Amino acid sequence: MKIIHTKSQLEAEKVVAEILLDQALNKPSCLIGLATGKTMVGVYKALVELSNESQYKELHFTMLDEYLGLSPQDKMSFRSYIEDLVMRPLHLSPEQFIFPPLIESAIQDFEKRLMDLGGVDLQLLGIGQNGHIGFNEPGSEKNSRTRVVNLTSETMKINKVSVNQAVSMGIGTIYEAKKIVMLATGSSKAEIIRYLVNHEDQKNTPATFLKSHPHFLLVLDPAAAAKINLNI
Ligand code: GLP
Repeated sequence: MKIIHTKSQLEAEKVVAEILLDQALNKPSCLIGLATGKTMVGVYKALVELSNESQYKELHFTMLDEYLGLSPQDKMSFRSYIEDLVMRPLHLSPEQFIFPPLIESAIQDFEKRLMDLGGVDLQLLGIGQNGHIGFNEPGSEKNSRTRVVNLTSETMKINKVSVNQAVSMGIGTIYEAKKIVMLATGSSKAEIIRYLVNHEDQKNTPATFLKSHPHFLLVLDPAAAAKINLNI
């Protein structure tokens, strides 16, 4: 795991946006895995500022997860989120996006589509305060695949949703990405980042499974990095 310490949240978001842009410029036909959550809002704004619309015509994007029980038009859905922050501002077509299916029988096809496109070249990730990645909550298996998952009450509360299920790429699915970039910003992530830096392969903290990945980059702002060197 490599860590980039930045001087501010804005800088951290820009660093990640530049990594996405570099990936797209170096391999214009690549597959990029996008994440949602508050953490990514600034990344996508920075990406739109840095971008020239014609840069992404051959790209494909896959989404990491989606709530079950919300309509795709619901403002809380991750589909609405990505349409508002990425698809429309960059004038991308819906055909360039792969969304996790909301019916269980289509999940194998979702994973197959990712493989048919050569697999995910770069997966962007945030982290939940309990160490979840995507919606792989504590207790998820390292080799888990895309599936229907139950949300913890803590995650429902933090995300302010009433639905208690989602479809999420599994940890094994995420791990197959050629590169993984995780961004954590803000003091609410300081404790989980301290834990992540000090532990490997802990089933109670799914993000720790990524530490053995050969290209796992963690980008932090000062608030998220604040507890890393504390011996607590
Ligand atoms: C959500 C998403 C994750 C996201 C995480 C952190 O529940 N499923 O993909 O990384 O929680 O969200 P935030 O950036 O809002 O803290």
